[in-house]
Parts: sequence; structure tokens; C-alpha cells
Amino acid sequence: MSTKVLIVKGSTAHKSRLDSLADIAREAAEQTGGDIRMWDLQDSPLPVMSLTDPRQRRLPEVMQVREAAAEADGFIILTPEYHGNMSGALKNWFDFLYLELAGKFAGVLAVTGGGGGDMSITAVKNSFNWCHGFTLPFHAAARPEDFDGTVLVNEKVIERVRRVGSDVVRYAPLIRRTFEAARADGADWRTGVAGMHATKTD
Ligand SMILES: Cc1cc2nc3c(=O)[nH]c(=O)nc-3n(C[C@H](O)[C@H](O)[C@H](O)COP(=O)(O)O)c2cc1C
Repeated sequence: MSTKVLIVKGSTAHKSRLDSLADIAREAAEQTGGDIRMWDLQDSPLPVMSLTDPRQRRLPEVMQVREAAAEADGFIILTPEYHGNMSGALKNWFDFLYLELAGKFAGVLAVTGGGGGDMSITAVKNSFNWCHGFTLPFHAAARPEDFDGTVLVNEKVIERVRRVGSDVVRYAPLIRRTFEAARADGADWRTGVAGMHATKTD
């Protein structure tokens, strides 16, 4: 069975520079055997997550986003760097999720206005890790000078993006299989972090 990868685009801009990175990552992931689905938070926005509004969880867009994340074995998550962080739209996506990301694997890509991207990439990895997901110890970020218009042309950055796309397909099924097997073994400490999810369903 092929590895299901969800590409999540966290930009709030039309014609985002992220699109070019997403397309390159998608091509690499497909060539490595991935079954790819794209989720664009600009085209499919979510309401701001509110714990005091239980109706939110039954909204079609919220249910769809959770189902798409639950189905995926791995994720390629892209963010623009906003104020040294991931975009608010992407953080809001995380706030609707937890179990859907546990025991999954993610690679992270960023575009910046000149910064190195470390802060937004670290922010995304932190959120994924705090949902008990595992992240690739490698990433890619692109600055404005790496583009011709909105097309990424810097070959070094393109290669990094391809490596991330390929690695997500390669590692995601191993991580998920290992986590699910440990989870099925029960809640004992020997099952590690997966055991903490043994009885959780929602
Ligand atoms: C609200 C806001 C905050 C930003 N903060 C940063 C920042 O902290 N560091 C940086 O390098 N670029 C920053 N930028 C520039 C964006 O990262 C850059 O324009 C990026 O290409 C935006 O992605 P997009 O192509 O999807 O619009 C910021 C842009 C906006 C709109």
C-alpha cells in the first residue's frame, strides 16, 4: 500500500511562494511512491479554534480537516515566516488536531522575507512534536532571492525541498507502523509514548 502524504500549505496569500515549494515536494514525494493530497489553508480556511464552542467540531470544514489528517501517514508542512513564527492559519490548523498527528511523521518547509527560516520551522516542528508526532531532522527554507517571481529557481534549495519530500514518504510508514504496534500493546510504560494513546479515541 502506498504511503499517504498530506501536504499542508499554511499561507494566507493568493499566489504564495509556498506553491512552488509544495509542487517540487509533491513531485519528489510522488516519485518516491507517495499518494499525495494537498491541503491549502488559503482555499479551505478554518474558523479560529474556540474551546467554548462545541459546535465547531461538527462543522464540515473542521471534520474534513481532521479526517484528512487522520488518514495521512505523513505530512509535508509549509509555512511562511510571520514575525519569527509559523503563520496564524497554520497554528490554528494544529489547534484542531492532536491524536491525528500522534505517531505520524512530518517534514517542514518555509518561505521567508529574508530570514533563514529557522524560527518558523522550529515552531512547526515544536507543535508537531507536542502532538506526539516525529519530525525530519532536516528542512528547507527559501528567501525572496531564491525565486524568479513566485517560482523557486535556487538549485540548492530545490534539492533540499526534494530531499524533504522524498524522506517523508520513506520514513512515515515505519514510524506509523511502529507507533500503532506499540499502541496496540496497551498502556504499560514499555509501550512508550504510544501507550499514552492506547485508550484515546477523540
Ligand atoms: C505578518 C507578516 C510577518 C512577517 N514576518 C517575517 C519574519 O519574521 N521574517 C521574515 O523573514 N519574513 C517575514 N515576513 C515576510 C514573509 O515571510 C514573506 O513575504 C513570505 O514570502 C510570505 O509568504 P507568501 O509568499 O505565502 O506570502 C512577514 C510577512 C508578513 C505578512
